[in-house]
Amino acid sequence: TQVEKAGYKHFMAKEIAEQPGVLADALRHYLKDSGTALSLPEEVDFTGVDRLTLVACGTASYACLVAKYWFERIAGLPVDVDIASEFRYREPPLSPTSWALFVSQSGETADTLAALRYAQEKVAKIVSVVNVPTSSIARESDLALPSLAGVEIGVASTKAFTCQLTVLAVLALKAAVDRGRLNPEALAGHLAALSALPGLMNHALGLEDRIATIAAQLAEAQDVLFLGRGAMFPLALEGALKLKEISYIHAEGYASGELKHGPIALIDSHVPVVVMAPRDALFDKTVSNMQEVMARGGKVLLLSDGAGVAEAGAGIWQSLTMPMVDPFTAPILYALPAQLLAYHTAIAKGTDVDQPRNLAKSVTVE
Ligand code: G6P
Repeated sequence: TQVEKAGYKHFMAKEIAEQPGVLADALRHYLKDSGTALSLPEEVDFTGVDRLTLVACGTASYACLVAKYWFERIAGLPVDVDIASEFRYREPPLSPTSWALFVSQSGETADTLAALRYAQEKVAKIVSVVNVPTSSIARESDLALPSLAGVEIGVASTKAFTCQLTVLAVLALKAAVDRGRLNPEALAGHLAALSALPGLMNHALGLEDRIATIAAQLAEAQDVLFLGRGAMFPLALEGALKLKEISYIHAEGYASGELKHGPIALIDSHVPVVVMAPRDALFDKTVSNMQEVMARGGKVLLLSDGAGVAEAGAGIWQSLTMPMVDPFTAPILYALPAQLLAYHTAIAKGTDVDQPRNLAKSVTVE
C-alpha cells in the first residue's frame, strides 16, 4: 500500500505529527489492564541475565544509549552499548549468560545484521526491536519485538526513534521487576509516566510555531552545539544528528559536563548552544554550564519545563517551555522539539527534508 503525505508538506512532518498516535499503539501492545501492567511475550524473562549488549547504528544507537540509563538505574542491570560497525570488527567477548539486543528501524542495516550474526551462539538470547517485522534482523533473532511506528519514509528517523525508546523503556521495567528492583507502587508510577506520553506529545507539538520562529534564526548558524545530561545526553546527540542530516549545519552533541573539556573553546556569539534540560536533580549544574556559555557571549536556546525556564533566569537567548514530564520519560518527549527544530531549520534553508543529500533510508552496504 502506498503511503501518502496526507496533506503534509513532507513525510518527515507527517511522521513527527503521528507520534502521539503510534506511541499510543505501541503502549496498547506492550501494556495491558488499561496501561497498569506490562504485557510482553513469556520469553522476556531477565532472571539470571547478568548483562545486556545493545547494538545499533545512527538514531537507533541513540535509543540504545538512553536505554542504558534506564536498565542500569531502574533495573540495576549492566549494559554495554556499541555502534554496530565497531562492535562487529572488535570481536568483543560476550558472556553466555548475557543477552544481545539489536535495534533497527529497517531491520536491514548491514552492519547491525552482521553484529547480530556475530553474537549468535555466544549469548543466551538475541532480541531485536525492529519496525519492519518481516526484516532480516527480525527473522534472525530469537525474539523480535515490533516497534509499531508504522511505515517511516523520511530518511531522518523520527517516529521510529520514539517508538524504539518506548519498547526499550518497557523492557527496562520488565528487567527491574524480574530482578526484584521495582515494587508495585514504583512500577505503577513508571507505567503512568509512559501512559501520559501521547497527551504530553500533543502539547509539545503545539509548540511548533514557536519552534519555527526560533529555527528561522538557527538557520543562520554555521555550527550548533547540543548539550544534555544523564538520559538527556543521548538526546543532545540525536538533536545534533537530526540538524546536520537535514539542514547541513554542522552540529555536535555533548554531555553538559564535558563542555569545559573542549567544546567551550568554540563558543562565541555565532555558535548557538541548545540545552535540553528538564528541571531535575542536576539542573543547577546545567544552569552553571549555561552561565559559562553566556559569559563567553554564547547564545543559549533552553528546552526545559516552566520551572527550569524560570530558574535559568535572564540572559538566555531563547527558551522553549515544555510540559512538565516525569524524568523517566523525558527523553522520549524531548525528541519532538529536537525533531521540529531540525525540520524547521531545514525548511528555512530550503534543503530537501525527506531525501537529504548523500543519505539513504536503509544502509544495506558495509
Ligand atoms: C540510516 C538512516 C538513519 C538510521 C540508520 C539506522 O543512516 O538514515 O535514520 O538511524 O540508518 O537505520 P536502522 O534502519 O537500522 O534503524
